[in-house]
Amino acid sequence: MTVPIAQRMNKIGTETAFAVSFEAGILARQGKKIYPFHLGDMNLITPPVVMDAAIDAMKKGKTGYCPTAGILELREALAKDVGQSHKIPLAADQISIQPGGKPTIGKFIMAAMNPGDKVLYPNPGYPIYESQIDFHGGVGVPYGYKEAEDHFILDMDVIRKGIQAGAKILIYNNYQNPTGASSPKDEIQELARLAVKNDLFVLADEAYFDIRYSGESLSIASFPGMAERTIILYTFSKKFAMTGWRLGAAIGPAPFIELISKINVNDESCSNHFIQYGALAGLQGGSEAPQRLLSILKERRDLLVDRLNAIPGIRCFRPEATFYLFPNVTGAMKRKGVAEVEGFRKLVLQETGVSFCTRRHFGRPLPGETEQYIRFAYSGIDLDQIKEGMDKLTAFLA
Ligand SMILES: Cc1ncc(COP(=O)(O)O)c(C=O)c1O
Repeated sequence: MTVPIAQRMNKIGTETAFAVSFEAGILARQGKKIYPFHLGDMNLITPPVVMDAAIDAMKKGKTGYCPTAGILELREALAKDVGQSHKIPLAADQISIQPGGKPTIGKFIMAAMNPGDKVLYPNPGYPIYESQIDFHGGVGVPYGYKEAEDHFILDMDVIRKGIQAGAKILIYNNYQNPTGASSPKDEIQELARLAVKNDLFVLADEAYFDIRYSGESLSIASFPGMAERTIILYTFSKKFAMTGWRLGAAIGPAPFIELISKINVNDESCSNHFIQYGALAGLQGGSEAPQRLLSILKERRDLLVDRLNAIPGIRCFRPEATFYLFPNVTGAMKRKGVAEVEGFRKLVLQETGVSFCTRRHFGRPLPGETEQYIRFAYSGIDLDQIKEGMDKLTAFLA
């Protein structure tokens, strides 16, 4: 029998970063020492307060279905927590609990975008935006980032052109994967001004809102006129080292959140019941656990940035948030005589075991893009291994 495959399946994308994991895994099985900088996963364990509460809930019988939008206690706690951090009034009916941060992307697209609609999205960016826009028949309008003196800035000209061309939906990921970019206040303000003026509906992917080493995180939802036109992607994955638990939320205007919950009914009925009690305990447990996680990540960031910048031909910013670095390796590639960044990645992996993703894993390069970038994630590798990996990379590229 020929298995029938719907035409729309030709349009769905994937996270090609998993292919890097696969490649590194093959080399590891052949006995090669691998330094894993490719995965945005964490080698840090979920805080005990979260684990204990989830186990307790399970033992108390919270093992059946729960309301499709999530347990009321967690929705209320999130409304309070995010309401405070974002300085916006939020109520429980503005929260729909999700099995992770990722589902909010597809559900937002499904509920907000008609086939043929233009959607602004970051590129380089998290590949699921483009995948979901294409899958649901939209027209992706990519915008990029530019290098300023010591940080990445949004390419506002491209965003303005996209709006002029008719885009009514904006996907904005501040604090950004893969660049680590943090928009300063004036940049978010300008984006918010454009959104209000041009009646844009916004998905604010805030997966890394709480992974911040200095200063204060700012949300586009907090700017005047934005709360009613913004859906926040919230996740417990990073803040509480809960990537494998799968828990997050869509947060925004109640009528739209109701639609997202209607998709929950169709997709998964509800998110895992007892895990929600774990997350609730995490939220109520104060900031000690997230602070400990942040201090570990910060040490890794500083070591890695210093070591990368000491290698000739590499230029790396020190992001204030996320656990990603996006060094410019144009010079290092020239020195090695490699023209293509994927070739560079494979060569380095083969020769040193240092495994990372490249710009290519985060979207098709934009017209006029000439510089070459790779992405390091330092959430899944300890300090001693960072040091050893950087010794090998330095020796290879020196
Ligand atoms: C920018 C961004 N958004 C969303 C997600 C999805 O998060 P989750 O693992 O909670 O589904 C990720 C995960 O890496 C991410 O980098």
